[in-house]
Amino acid sequence: MPFDFGKNWLDFSKNALTSAKVKQAENDFAKLFAGIELTGKTFIDIGFGQGLSLLIARQNGATVVGCEINPTCKEALEQTLIHFPHVKSTDIPIVIGSILNQDTVNQLLKYSNNQGVDIVHSWGVLHHTGNMRQAFQSVAKLVKEDGYLVIAIYNKHWSSYIWLIIKWLYCKLPSLLQSGLVYLFYPIIWLAKYLVTRENPTKKTRGMDFLYDVIDWVGGYPYEYASIEEIEKLMMNLGFQKLKHVKAQVPTGCNEFIFRKNLPLIEK
Ligand SMILES: C[S@@+](CC[C@H](N)C(=O)[O-])C[C@H]1O[C@@H](n2cnc3c(N)ncnc32)[C@H](O)[C@@H]1O
Repeated sequence: MPFDFGKNWLDFSKNALTSAKVKQAENDFAKLFAGIELTGKTFIDIGFGQGLSLLIARQNGATVVGCEINPTCKEALEQTLIHFPHVKSTDIPIVIGSILNQDTVNQLLKYSNNQGVDIVHSWGVLHHTGNMRQAFQSVAKLVKEDGYLVIAIYNKHWSSYIWLIIKWLYCKLPSLLQSGLVYLFYPIIWLAKYLVTRENPTKKTRGMDFLYDVIDWVGGYPYEYASIEEIEKLMMNLGFQKLKHVKAQVPTGCNEFIFRKNLPLIEK
């Protein structure tokens, strides 16, 4: 049984999302997208989760489409929408399906007359699909020539394999023991993050929330990981050039990347 991201996101959007967190998500989104115009652009969000990035992109003037494997995320998106009074739900078409499924990819491509879109965004998703390399191939097809791919992928670390076992185990346990595992790891993760960053771990970025992040972290299976160099090589083989990366704050956190498809050579 894979981890139920939809339930976790719905609980987050209902119980933890505040206007302050939305503001923070907007600021961090603006920082990541610095220099990339969104107004009038086409934008696909793969694995939109609670829907914050999708709604922020729409708010910034992009024509958006969301894709999710977990149908409960649609309910989470509707909850998150309450914080975006200027965005209409009819402006947020959703495709429910896996990015590993060719039918889903074809449905998404139809939104761009089969040309691909200006920006494909997929934050913390492709490593949860069960086949990260195939997922990269699918998202690559959705980006038009000169378009952008914005992704975040778990970093490879000596402890990654231990986490793989913990996450696998979590998904095998009955729900009472799953909660026990979360409350066991809550102080451990808090301390480990504090020791690495010297900052209060409950102060989150991207509008996230520490408790819901711990649940996502302890249970988020399937789980894969890769070094910055491995991701760069993978994307280069798919015809993308790296514009920038932002290193994860903690060793097993997500590295963020911005790639451009078939970037034209700069004329001298
Ligand atoms: C860690 S969450 C990230 C959510 C959101 N992108 C964010 O930045 O907060 C990963 C999301 O990817 C979705 N997901 C996992 N496998 C997927 C697949 N094969 N196709 C589409 N979405 C998938 C999950 O349901 C989950 O909502």
